[in-house]
Amino acid sequence: MENLNSFQFLLSTKIIFGKDQLNSLGDQLAEISAKKIMIVTDKGLIKAGIVDKVLDIIKRNNIDYYLYDEVIPNPRINVVDEAAAICKNENCNVLIAIGGGSAMDTTKGISVMATNEGSSYDYLDGRGESKKEISNDPLPIIAIPTTSGTGSEVSFYSVLTDPETKIKDSISSHKIYPVVAIIDPVLTKNLPSFITACTGLDVLGHALEAYTSTIENPMTDLFALEAIKIVFNSLAEAVNSGDIEARVNMSYASMLAGIAMSHCGATIPHALGCPLTGHCGMPHGLAVGILQIPMLEFNKEVLQDKVKNVLKYMDEDINNIDEGQYHTYLINKIKELMKKINIEEAVNKYVMDEKSIDLMSKDAIIHGCTLINPKKISIEDIINIYNEIG
Ligand SMILES: [Fe+2]
Repeated sequence: MENLNSFQFLLSTKIIFGKDQLNSLGDQLAEISAKKIMIVTDKGLIKAGIVDKVLDIIKRNNIDYYLYDEVIPNPRINVVDEAAAICKNENCNVLIAIGGGSAMDTTKGISVMATNEGSSYDYLDGRGESKKEISNDPLPIIAIPTTSGTGSEVSFYSVLTDPETKIKDSISSHKIYPVVAIIDPVLTKNLPSFITACTGLDVLGHALEAYTSTIENPMTDLFALEAIKIVFNSLAEAVNSGDIEARVNMSYASMLAGIAMSHCGATIPHALGCPLTGHCGMPHGLAVGILQIPMLEFNKEVLQDKVKNVLKYMDEDINNIDEGQYHTYLINKIKELMKKINIEEAVNKYVMDEKSIDLMSKDAIIHGCTLINPKKISIEDIINIYNEIG
């Protein structure tokens, strides 16, 4: 290889991947000496019977537990603080997150606040110099994802929302990597098609943005390219037929993209997508998904080589296409995918007026992902992109 850059790579999470691998939970709990577990989930997953599968294993292993089922989408700092107080009170020494990104973000926040002073607000990256260091080791987490999208089971970020400003910010530390991620695609079997579509677009965003960010590295490029290829090959089938093998593929892609993004961050779709969720309520994956094309268009002149690499990795027949057309080719692939997963109608439900665009643009320009976009972006550019998709 030529011009191989220096890089660091750390993933301290044991990954247990595959159908019915949830059955390994008992062994994992014994390995980390679980005495009392706080299970962090939401009422929907209790109703769906997924939490019962976990409880059966915990009960069979005679381990005490506390069931916390108050997880909400876009978890707030005050909710994390309240849950951490319960965790301390109950003397739990292990946390199990069951759910999507919100459950895992909440759990990571609890793991920090159960052993450290103050409020989760004090540990957010956006606090700058007044940000507190995590001085005590957080509680160990076993992450059990029930969607294939966030990749949070293999990331060291806890994304939390300030209820007053509606700004999303992160606690980021290698100390909050889950100790174990049990990725059992069977748990995603009954996921509604719209959620499968949105979370799948999030995977595409993590992979494409990680690959094109200014801080990518040769190892994460491998993860990202493979994830992109799998999304184009399997997402439509997972959405439309719910085929279990397509779901297995999407769970794998989600994990790969999560590892890539955890190391190299994301770019303008996440920078502009997070405010879209915060101010307009658009689901995260949908927001990130519809911003992929504007991202490719905005960064066109600096992404020629990378777009070519993506198409080559996907085994697309590009021999007879002019180099100048590669960008359009990839954009058309994304448009085709969006059509196949039927998301157009959902997008039209969300109205962006001048006031919300003003607020969102101000949030987006200071978002961490803006800084690692391959081309410098101004607030005027951001306003233009919001107007374009609105
Ligand atoms: Fe995301």
